[in-house]
Amino acid sequence: MGIWKAAVGVALLLGLGGASVPPNLGRSELPERAPDVPYVPTPQPVVDAMLEVADVKPGDVLYDLGSGDGRIVVTAAQRFGVRGVGIDINPERVQEAEANARAAGVERLTEFRQEDIFKADFGEATVVTMYLLPSVNNRLKPKLLNELKPGTRIVSHAFDIEGWEPERIIETDGRTIYFWVVPETPGRGER
Ligand SMILES: C[S@@+](CC[C@H](N)C(=O)[O-])C[C@H]1O[C@@H](n2cnc3c(N)ncnc32)[C@H](O)[C@@H]1O
Repeated sequence: MGIWKAAVGVALLLGLGGASVPPNLGRSELPERAPDVPYVPTPQPVVDAMLEVADVKPGDVLYDLGSGDGRIVVTAAQRFGVRGVGIDINPERVQEAEANARAAGVERLTEFRQEDIFKADFGEATVVTMYLLPSVNNRLKPKLLNELKPGTRIVSHAFDIEGWEPERIIETDGRTIYFWVVPETPGRGER
């Protein structure tokens, strides 16, 4: 990824994503700690492209790490009938995602958990999606490698994972999407 592209992506996330917790929320409604990444939603055409590149199909179990308003999980359930779990540290986002799943009529296929992705169990996933930050992707790397089953597909909006050769890189709507498959042998995908 070019340096300028990474810089634009980081600026988008850091510049537009502030103030995700309104000041009038009660203490119990605040995240257990500050989110590692601010909330910036993935545009819908990019969500659609992420699900297509991962070849999401019935039988998959999709986890969105840092699920925001739940759009990736909700879209996967609506379009492909797959079960999905969204994990977000911010309770406000979890409530929003649950409301969106209800409005879309997919609450039985979807679940939103208020959890820290660094502590969450996502080993049952067959597809993992994320729109985080380069540093967060890199910190997640050991957990992805150790906990995901070989063959699990990983899709990241905007940011790659240091040292992992993507199987595909797609440009959609001015955004970059990275796609990997967890290798059978640890270390096989390393650059
Ligand atoms: C850039 S948004 C992406 C939202 C959604 N996945 C999308 O693509 O539209 C990142 C989300 O990650 C959440 N987040 C940040 N740090 C987290 C952490 N440690 N554990 C769980 N969620 C986190 C934020 O609250 C925010 O909703």
